[in-house]
Amino acid sequence: MENIQTIVVDSKEQGAEKICELVQKELEAGHLHVLGLATGSTMEPVYEKMTESDLDFTNVIAFNLDEYIGIPATHKNSYAYYMNELLFSKKPFKETHIENGMAEDLDAECVRYETLLKENPLDIQFLGIGENGHIAFNEPGTSPESVTHVVELTESTIAVNSQYFTEDETMPVTALTMGISSIMQAKKLIVAAFGEKKRPALEKLFEGVVTTEWPVTYLLDHPDVIVITDLKL
Ligand code: PGA
Repeated sequence: MENIQTIVVDSKEQGAEKICELVQKELEAGHLHVLGLATGSTMEPVYEKMTESDLDFTNVIAFNLDEYIGIPATHKNSYAYYMNELLFSKKPFKETHIENGMAEDLDAECVRYETLLKENPLDIQFLGIGENGHIAFNEPGTSPESVTHVVELTESTIAVNSQYFTEDETMPVTALTMGISSIMQAKKLIVAAFGEKKRPALEKLFEGVVTTEWPVTYLLDHPDVIVITDLKL
C-alpha cells in the first residue's frame, strides 16, 4: 500500500504532535490553503497542540466534515460549538465553514456546501474513524460517489456519541456530512485512530479490500493517506 503511510505513536498526545508537524511542513512549503477539519474525541489533543503552537492559519480556509441536524451552533454538542471552543476562538483562520444543520432547506444547504468545496479544493483533510468504520458521518453502505448529503446515523454511531448528551437532551439522529467523493477530492488525507476500539476498522483498512460496509476502506483508492495511530497492527 504505497499510497498509505502509517506512523505509529505511543500516545494520542504524540499523535497530535505529529499531526501539527505535518501541518507545519505543508504550511511552510506553501501547500496549505484549505484545511478540512474533523471533530470527535480523537481531534481534541490535536486542537490543543495547535492552539499552543505558533502555527499561523490566518491565510487558511477551514471546512468541517459534518454537523448534526436540528441543534444550533450555540448548543454545546454541535460541531460548530466544538470547533469554536477548541480552535477557532484561539486560532484565527481566514474563513471557517461548517454545514448549517438548522437550514430550512437541507438539500439546498448540501448543494451550497459542496459548491463551496469545489471552489476551494481541500489541500489536507483530517479524518477520524468511527468504530463501525465510518468516515465523517458516512455510515456503512454509503456510496463512493456521494457528495455532501443528509444522513441517518446508525445505531452504532448513536450509541457511541450519545455519551456526550445529557439525559434531558435528545441526541439528533440525522446529520449533514461531506460525502466520500467530497473527502476523496482532498490532496492529502491525515487519518487519526487511537485506542483499541478503533482496531477492527483499521484492520479492515489494512486488509486492503474496498468494501462499502467499511467506508474507511475507500481510502485505499486515495493517492496520499497518512494514518497516525497508537495501535500496532
Ligand atoms: P471519535 O470519533 O474521535 O470521538 O472517536 C471519530 C469518528 O466517529 O469519526
